[in-house]
Amino acid sequence: MSAEHAHQSLPFADTLAAIKAAVPGNLLKPQVGIVCGSGLHTLAADIRNKVEVPYSALPGFGSSTVPGHKSALAFGLIGPGSGVPVVVMLGRFHPYEGHKLSAVVYPIRVMARLGVRRLIVTNAAGGLNKDLPVGTIVVIRDHIALPNLTGMNPLLGPQVGPEYPRFIPLSSAHSVALRRVAFLAAHKLQLPSDALAEGVYAWVSGPTYETAAEGRMLRNAGADVVGMSTVPEVVVGKEEGLQVLVLSLVTNAVVIPDGYRDIKAEVEAELAGKPVAHVDEVTVSHEEVLEKGKEKAEVMKSLVEMIVELIAAGEANVASRG
Ligand code: HPA
Repeated sequence: MSAEHAHQSLPFADTLAAIKAAVPGNLLKPQVGIVCGSGLHTLAADIRNKVEVPYSALPGFGSSTVPGHKSALAFGLIGPGSGVPVVVMLGRFHPYEGHKLSAVVYPIRVMARLGVRRLIVTNAAGGLNKDLPVGTIVVIRDHIALPNLTGMNPLLGPQVGPEYPRFIPLSSAHSVALRRVAFLAAHKLQLPSDALAEGVYAWVSGPTYETAAEGRMLRNAGADVVGMSTVPEVVVGKEEGLQVLVLSLVTNAVVIPDGYRDIKAEVEAELAGKPVAHVDEVTVSHEEVLEKGKEKAEVMKSLVEMIVELIAAGEANVASRG
């Protein structure tokens, strides 16, 4: 094996064999792949004829160690009639858990080899844009990936095979056709207009939440929401030739006070015998993120189901829409 294609050692044949052994034939050709973010694995609750294959049974898969994430690949049908076959990641891998980027994106490569052509990635995200309150679902139109720009790109290193292009354009990473379908789906579900917005996702490695200065920088750079996942899957989805849609649920506002407390002035006031007002520090917690995820999981579920149905009805096939 040549060094530049060392990834050929990825265990695709074994993973696909394990899936084929566990999943009935009518579910083995999923049309749409879905990735469930924090607190959003109930997305798979309504899937019919569901078969869950634990990640532990799948060569090449790690296990998700984050509270609120499960560790299984679900196969089944969405929608009325004979239904649309889908494959759902219940729990994803993040680099901050210690997973290598190649492992984070391996399930997307497996989905592509099962025949998936469309990928819907959901996540929980912090709100940077003041016009996007907690609970808003943001259809991602573009992303800023600081890790990609600074040496943590999932495509660094050997390529999966000689047929893969080396340099992938990402200017159209977020499919216009699928974003259109997302808004059509919201309309069909009669969601209020402000339930769904469009915006830019900033990927950070985590697991720390942002400082105020970092949040301010990302906001000033044009990001509307920030999260610790998703972009690796988008990049590899694009490399594998998939149409990709990202839906971010705003679970918390990133703490960005308009100004800093002036400690110098506070000390001077204190020394001058003037009372200094008590200030409560605001922080973000994973519990808050999970709680909001649970609360909004129903809306996200209906939306994703409707999007899948509209895809199956041909709404994403308009070639000129990308
Ligand atoms: N920052 C980064 N990632 C997140 C946040 C946040 O505020 N909320 C949920 N995921």
